[in-house]
Amino acid sequence: MEETTKPQATTERPASGEAAPIIRFRGVHKSFGDKVILDGLDLDVPEGQTLVIMGPSGTGKSVTLRHVIGLMQPDQGQVEVWGKDVNQIARKELVALRKRIGYLFQDGALINWLNVGDNVALPLRENSKLDEAEIREKVEHKLELVHLPGIWDRMPGELSGGMRKRVGLARALITDAELILYDEPNAGLDPEMSGSINQLIAEIADTLGITSVVVTHLQSCVRVVADRVVLLEKGRLVVDLPRDEFLASKHPRVRSFLGDDPD
Ligand SMILES: Nc1ncnc2c1ncn2[C@@H]1O[C@H](COP(=O)(O)OP(=O)(O)O)[C@@H](O)[C@H]1O
Ligand SMILES: [Mg+2]
Repeated sequence: MEETTKPQATTERPASGEAAPIIRFRGVHKSFGDKVILDGLDLDVPEGQTLVIMGPSGTGKSVTLRHVIGLMQPDQGQVEVWGKDVNQIARKELVALRKRIGYLFQDGALINWLNVGDNVALPLRENSKLDEAEIREKVEHKLELVHLPGIWDRMPGELSGGMRKRVGLARALITDAELILYDEPNAGLDPEMSGSINQLIAEIADTLGITSVVVTHLQSCVRVVADRVVLLEKGRLVVDLPRDEFLASKHPRVRSFLGDDPD
């Protein structure tokens, strides 16, 4: 008989040939007061993968994303990004690491008194030494990428929810992020807009080869964007499957979560 052993928390690299995961959570615990949110979470995201995180509301999906960029620290355990423990590195290194990560907040988080172009340009103005012409060219290119060419002068208040979300995405991409975190990119959008955001997420992952983590509760989003789906419940992953297996899974939590039949 084989002994059953729990996976060891380790920071060892995988055997040669395999790429180290871009994101690695090991035994991450996080509580707020006496409320345990993450309860020993283990999670690896390999390069180039689009991982979808599903789970009930208030289960710690956004908290998990915040740990990736060091906006929250675990009470126990490690969070490594590109092989670096985000809670051990120097502040300067963390700032450099964050520049490689795009974060699409739920509401797009645009600044209302800046026009679209200036919103998208903001990370470049803050963090680069590019001149205005170079900034202009980069911003216009990203706006084209999200299928919103030529809207530099529009104000956020004049845009639909879907357009705001796409501008937020252009801004998340402006520093040529290698990893993008999407927190409920479909929230508040009608089905048509929601579908076009899904297409865009998939397109960006494919054409730019970006590693992506997407928090969503929509099956339509899973179908279009996911390579792999995890279900987070009570602070741990209760399901971790490739997309098609997830969608067809008879696991009771998957079924109740998708709220339908596999067929
Ligand atoms: N900064 C915080 N302080 C206290 N409680 C928090 C904080 N951030 C999140 N929480 C709590 O942690 C739980 C998980 O939150 P969250 O990750 O936002 O859930 P979701 O899975 O819906 O994204 C919620 O109960 C939330 O109230
Ligand atoms: Mg959330």
